[in-house]
Amino acid sequence: MLQHDSPAPSTHDADWWRQAVVYQVYPRSFADSDGDGIGDIPGVTSRLPYLADLGVDAVWLSPFYPSQLADGGYDVADYRDVDPRLGTLEDFDAMVAEADRLGLRVMVDIVPNHSSDQHVWFQQALAAAPGSAARERYVFRDGRGPDGELPPTDWPSSFGGPAWTRVPDGQWYLHLYAPQQPDFNWDNPEVREDFHTTLRFWSDRGVAGFRVDVAHGLAKDLRAPLRDLGEQLSYQPGALPLDGSHPLWDRDAVHEIYRGWRQVFDAYDPPRFAVAEAWVGASRRTAYASADGLGQAFNFDFLGAPLDATEMFTIIDAALADARRAGATSTWVLSNHDVVRHVSRYALPGDFTKQDIEAWLLTDGREPEPDLPKGMRKARAAALLMLALPGSAYVYQGEELGLPEVADLDRADLRDPMWIRSDGRVKGRDGCRVPLPWTAEGASFGFGRGGSWLPQPADWGRYAAETQRGDKESFLELYREALRLRRTLVTDEGLEWVGPREGVRQGLLHFARTGDWHTVSNLGDEPVPLPRGEVLLASGPLTGDKLPPWTTAWLRATAPGR
Ligand code: GLC
Repeated sequence: MLQHDSPAPSTHDADWWRQAVVYQVYPRSFADSDGDGIGDIPGVTSRLPYLADLGVDAVWLSPFYPSQLADGGYDVADYRDVDPRLGTLEDFDAMVAEADRLGLRVMVDIVPNHSSDQHVWFQQALAAAPGSAARERYVFRDGRGPDGELPPTDWPSSFGGPAWTRVPDGQWYLHLYAPQQPDFNWDNPEVREDFHTTLRFWSDRGVAGFRVDVAHGLAKDLRAPLRDLGEQLSYQPGALPLDGSHPLWDRDAVHEIYRGWRQVFDAYDPPRFAVAEAWVGASRRTAYASADGLGQAFNFDFLGAPLDATEMFTIIDAALADARRAGATSTWVLSNHDVVRHVSRYALPGDFTKQDIEAWLLTDGREPEPDLPKGMRKARAAALLMLALPGSAYVYQGEELGLPEVADLDRADLRDPMWIRSDGRVKGRDGCRVPLPWTAEGASFGFGRGGSWLPQPADWGRYAAETQRGDKESFLELYREALRLRRTLVTDEGLEWVGPREGVRQGLLHFARTGDWHTVSNLGDEPVPLPRGEVLLASGPLTGDKLPPWTTAWLRATAPGR
């Protein structure tokens, strides 16, 4: 079968990200130090020893900037400060210092497509006249119709409704997300310069890298007359043209912006690193991940696919080839703050689509009834598969505890703009953002002294870090042991598939990495014989020399092949 050769192992510090395990913290839901029900920066600092003990390499923080939380913090009012409810810049510095002491790197989220409508620039734009320099930092246009009462184009917002909102003087401004998130005009050099300043601001504070939000959205075709989308109304990656010709998304001109960012990153020692959140077709991903661009790009195909051997084989093989072409490494993601947690996804029927999952959420997770033990078992198998692949794994907070989605949040508690903007047709992403359980009992299960901004389920304590620590069968201990072993096993970036394609069709994924580290995932329905060798770790109990369904094992093979 195919072989992915590897360049020499990277030992230089600048390459730390090539095979890192990055833990995503959603700050408002991680740990609350002052009892106001909202997680904060000192809360993150207090739990860094837990992350060091877990064995991750870096921590990525979702936005913690001043924000009115119209989109959970992805509506940034000031890119160079900390939201007062979450702490201060001094708290941030203390967190970086503690991370440094523990050998953890810190990454932050940069949201360049849009700001908050509370941002000083947008406030200035509202106060200024049409055609003014202040309005040129955003996208203001006159409307259509006799009195300009119709939006300038048919462009929809990703959260539902039109992408244009009218201001009192009659002009409209563009927001591809919520109305509180006006899109920047990236043709304006002032916008470009200001983001360079922001990247330097955090780099100077010791940040090692950036996660770039909506990286494929910045460069828009804003030449007059603006183009209607007509049939092209869907923003799904599969629906975007592969030649960069869409007026809004994934235009080739976006890479010129990132070449400018690369110059900023490379002025540091070690150079700063970035990973693109770009919902684009796989073949378009390499441009974001290139060495003169951001460096790495999220591979959402892995996250979006069912745990099926043929699909996984195809996705993994293509992602490794793409990353190699870009001179990057691939990323592997199972969950993040935007998707239903994978324990729950895997607990649903295997051919469930994204639309089915949205419909399932609207039944409060009751129809169909999720098979949680199956979901857990598959999630454990997926974790060992992901952590054995060459490249970087991104672990979403609580994934290491096996947290399921909280699908039955009361509608009155929902905060996601998707819920609000869709008039109740899409329940949204709050169910994966419920604050973490740290202790078996106590106020908000150890999240803080008080309550939690989203209610936690009554049985949350059974998933608590404290409950699981030391229990060899637990999710947490599986992740800890996998991360400990991974440090000793990962050498270069190569991967060799083992065994015939026929095996894949029967549900078996088997690959080897240097040093005879073999990974075997049985994603089929029947037990399969294990290759000969020493079992280093398995995601579930083995039956003699057989690997049961939905189980992954790591082995040190004694003979090549099976
Ligand atoms: C990204 C974020 C998501 C946010 C959106 C708009 O997709 O991950 O949470 O809603 O961008 O900023």
